[in-house]
Amino acid sequence: MKPLLLGVNVDHIATLRQARGTRYPDPVYAALLAEEAGADGITVHLREDRRHIQERDVRLLQQMTQTRVNLELAVQDQVLGFALELQPQHCCLVPERREELTTEGGLDVRGQFNRIKGAVTDLVQADIEVSLFIDPEVDQVKAAADTGAQAIELHTGAYADGGPAEQKAELQRLQHCAQLATDLGLVVNAGHGLHYHNIEPIAAIAPLNELNIGHSIISRSFFVGLKVAVQEMKQLMNAARVAP
Ligand code: PXP
Repeated sequence: MKPLLLGVNVDHIATLRQARGTRYPDPVYAALLAEEAGADGITVHLREDRRHIQERDVRLLQQMTQTRVNLELAVQDQVLGFALELQPQHCCLVPERREELTTEGGLDVRGQFNRIKGAVTDLVQADIEVSLFIDPEVDQVKAAADTGAQAIELHTGAYADGGPAEQKAELQRLQHCAQLATDLGLVVNAGHGLHYHNIEPIAAIAPLNELNIGHSIISRSFFVGLKVAVQEMKQLMNAARVAP
């Protein structure tokens, strides 16, 4: 099986900083440590309300990281303009509501096709790889391919939050959509709600290219340090890829 990449989301380092308005802890420093520990990319979400990551963070990440910045953003003019100016290697378009705790549900690509396709076209023309964060639904996968985006990120939130029966059904949907998207020529990533105890069946889905993981790694880092937390997650992912 091809290796599975790990994108470490450092938003929650910035959440802690913003809670006090201090200069620490710095998400850029966290990103560099995560890279040293084996992260294959750094993911940040520049939210409309700037509740955690700030423009300054994304600019510095772009200058200092050695791997790849994946900027998550809503289909919204101001942040899209920022992305077009900064030109990170990768952007992931996500839905966003101010009142949500975290990204809840995937993009409705079919329902908002023209708006999303317009944003994808602008980003792709600026040489940015674009992925669309969608629920594992066949119609959304097909719509995502029609926008011209090069990748999708499948939302694993329902899998992560579900009981055993729901998890089993969600895994099947994720597997099916990952294969369909691959057949349609899309790179397939996944993420949301993944942690050390639920990662294995997801990491074993063969077509997946990358997992984006934030909350669980940053939480564990309080107790074992960020480098060890990243290394432990990578070990679990690698083990799932070689298992028979
Ligand atoms: N992928 C996307 C598109 C997200 O919005 C998030 C949350 O910011 C993640 C992955 C990471 O989710 P978690 O913090 O639950 O690991």
